[in-house]
Amino acid sequence: MNTPTTFPDNFLWGGALAANQYEGAYDADGKGLSVQDVMPQGIVGPRTEAPTPDNLKLVGIDFYHRYKEDIALLAEMGFKVFRFSIAWSRIFPNGDETEPNEAGLAFYDRVLDELEKYGIEPLVTISHYETPLHLTKTYNGWADRRMIGFFERYARTLFERYGKRVKYWLTFNEINSVLHEPFMSGGINTPKEELSEQDLYQAIHHELVASASATRIAHEVSPELQVGCMILAIPFYPLTPDPRDVWAAKQAERDNYTFGDVHVRGAYPGYFLRKLRDKGIELDITEADRRTLAEHTVDFVSFSYYMSSCETATQQREASGGNLMGGVVNPTLEVSQWGWAIDPRGLRTILNDYWDRWGKPLFIVENGLGARDELVTGPDGTPTVADDYRIDYMNDHLVQVREAIADGVQVIGYTSWGCIDCVSASTAQMSKRYGFIYVDRNDDGTGTLERYRKQSFGWYRDVIASNGASLKA
Ligand code: BG6
Repeated sequence: MNTPTTFPDNFLWGGALAANQYEGAYDADGKGLSVQDVMPQGIVGPRTEAPTPDNLKLVGIDFYHRYKEDIALLAEMGFKVFRFSIAWSRIFPNGDETEPNEAGLAFYDRVLDELEKYGIEPLVTISHYETPLHLTKTYNGWADRRMIGFFERYARTLFERYGKRVKYWLTFNEINSVLHEPFMSGGINTPKEELSEQDLYQAIHHELVASASATRIAHEVSPELQVGCMILAIPFYPLTPDPRDVWAAKQAERDNYTFGDVHVRGAYPGYFLRKLRDKGIELDITEADRRTLAEHTVDFVSFSYYMSSCETATQQREASGGNLMGGVVNPTLEVSQWGWAIDPRGLRTILNDYWDRWGKPLFIVENGLGARDELVTGPDGTPTVADDYRIDYMNDHLVQVREAIADGVQVIGYTSWGCIDCVSASTAQMSKRYGFIYVDRNDDGTGTLERYRKQSFGWYRDVIASNGASLKA
C-alpha cells in the first residue's frame, strides 16, 4: 500500500465560519434569538437580558445579505470546501416547535445554490454555539433530556432538506468546550459557578446521545451522508519529565479524548467511568442510550487546532491563555497577541495521536491566527493588509499537516478559521481577525462592511492551486 507523501489530489482546501459570527440579520425572516444575542462581550463579560446594540453579532459581517459577493471571493481563492453552520433559531426559532420556519430553510437553499455554482463542497455544522435562547430559558439547555428530541427534529429537517446537496455534516462544534463554557456551548442557563458537576456531565451525556442519534438519522435519510464529531483539540505536554507531570498532562488530554472515544468507539471509556465514580456522579443512562451510542458511531473525526498547552502537578501553575480552555504556559513557545501558544508541530502530534487512537479519517476544520490587522494601500492602489504573520502561521501549520500525511495519517481536508473576518467567539471583538478577506468593521460597530483582499488571499489561492506544493518547508 502506498502512503501519500503530500496532499492527496482530492484534498478539501477551504475555510470555515459560524452563523452567529458572520451572518448578522439576527431577527430577520422569523429568526428567533440564540444564546449569542445576549453575549455582547462573548465569554469575557456578563450576559444581557435581551439583545443590546453593542453586540456586534447582531449584524456580524452581514453575510445574510452579502453571501453572493462573499462566496464569489471564496471561489476566487479556489475553495474546494466551505464550512459554515446553520443557525438553529432560523430553522426552529424557539427550538421546541414541531414545524420549521420555511424562510430560514430557504436562506440556506440560496447559500447552497451559490456554492454549487462554483463547485464548492459544503461542510455543515448543525450546532455551533447557537442554541435557541428559548431552550436555555425554558429547559436549561442540554441539562434537560428533552433537548435530544428537539435536536433530532432539527437535524432530521436539515438532512431531509439538504441531504442531496450536503454530504459532510458535523453535529456539535467543539463539543468538549461545554466543560468550560456551559452557557455558550451547552445552552445551560445555570451560572457556571452554580452548576453542579452532576448536571454538567448529565448534559454532556444528552449531547453525546443526540449526536449519535443525528448520525443514525443522517444514515437513514441517505447512506451517502458522512457525519463527523468536532473536538476542540489541544495537545497537553508535561511541563517537566517528572512522571507526575506526565500523568497530569495525560489527564488533561483525557478530558478531551472522552468525547472522541464515545463518538468513535460507542461507549464511555474506563478512565471516564472512574472519574465519575471518584466524583460521586451517577448518570442517568438508559439502555436505549447505550444502544444509540454503540450503534451510531461517526464516519470521521473533525477538530479545531490553534494551540498546545502544558500541565503540571509539581510546579507553580502559570495559567496560559487559550481557546476556551487554558493550561500552563509553555516557556518554549511564542504566543499570539491574545496569548495563545503558537505550535505548528502540535498539529502533527494531534493528527498522529487521533489517527493512532481512532483510525478514522480526520478533517481539520479550524486553524488560524487571530491578529490585529492594519489596512494599508496596496501596490495597485486598493486597500490591503500585509499579513505576512498570518501567512507564516498557516504555512508552518500546513507543512506539519503534510508531514502527518507522510506519517500515514488520513486527512480529508483543511478549513482555516474565519476565512472572512468575523466577530470573535471568545471576546466578541471584530479586531481579532483571522481572515484572508478584511471586513471594514470596528469594535465600536462603525465601518462600511466593505471587503478587501489581504496578502494572504493570494498566498492561499496559490497554495490551493498548487495543492500545497507552494508551501515553504
Ligand atoms: C473556536 C470556535 O473555539 O475558535 C470559533 O469554534 C472561534 O467559533 C474560534 O471563533 C476562534 O476563537 P476566537 O475566540 O478567537 O474567535
